[in-house]
Amino acid sequence: MASIRNIVILTGAGISAESGVATFRGPDGLWEGHRVEDVCTPEALAADPALVHEFYDMRRAKLGTVKPNAAHHALARLDAEWPGELLIVTQNVDDLHERAGAKRMLHMHGELLSALCAGCGARQRWTGAMPPGQACGACGMAALRPDIVFFGEIPYRMDEIEAALAQADLFVSIGTSGAVYPAAGFVRLAHHYGARTLELNLDPSEGSSWFDESRLGRAGELVPIWVAEILADGGQAPPSA
Ligand code: APR
Repeated sequence: MASIRNIVILTGAGISAESGVATFRGPDGLWEGHRVEDVCTPEALAADPALVHEFYDMRRAKLGTVKPNAAHHALARLDAEWPGELLIVTQNVDDLHERAGAKRMLHMHGELLSALCAGCGARQRWTGAMPPGQACGACGMAALRPDIVFFGEIPYRMDEIEAALAQADLFVSIGTSGAVYPAAGFVRLAHHYGARTLELNLDPSEGSSWFDESRLGRAGELVPIWVAEILADGGQAPPSA
């Protein structure tokens, strides 16, 4: 049986849904209240900075009212106990993975709790409201913006992600619709490099047909089960591998 040593996990808004964080494209989705073009593009930031900053201030403030769920805690357990390589690539901008204890992770779409200086590129932790025109702690310019990757901008740390996918024996996608690239293409990249691929999602995603295995259900239920399985198997791929 092929053994599994290196794992890459992609998470999306669905992993935070049971914590009370709205997803984007569901019936009560975040985008329901706003047109993406109005709040999540560089053009929107330039045209109406107050609206864009307010949208992210609202989501940043919400973080104080939610907490990690069983899926976040299960991935943090895997991170702590997995002897091989492991990378959690989250599309989410919340801090729930970190608060559950995950360490080997990165935010490819940015973070609500970070401010980016549009002038010098410096980042600083930001927890409260961020009205337009806040001064950068590094260069002093009144140019701080939410450290969020807007549509049309390049996701962060793609080199690291692609290097991890090239070495992966297993790629697991959790709670994402597969609607947004480049994340939606990771399953094909992983498959190309010979990794097994597993999807854990409430509904079939747009890329479900690319996965070797797809388990449908709530992340809070499916992820702890899967983590217990993979730790018990010690990384032995299931016979169907
Ligand atoms: N457990 C597992 N999956 C769930 C749950 C749950 N409790 N609730 C919802 N889901 C699934 C939905 O079936 C859907 O496939 O999570 C997915 C959420 O999809 P989206 O709302 O599109 O969120 P996401 O895939 O993370 O969006 C990707 O798009 O808007 C941009 O930058 C934003 O990072 C985001 C990216």
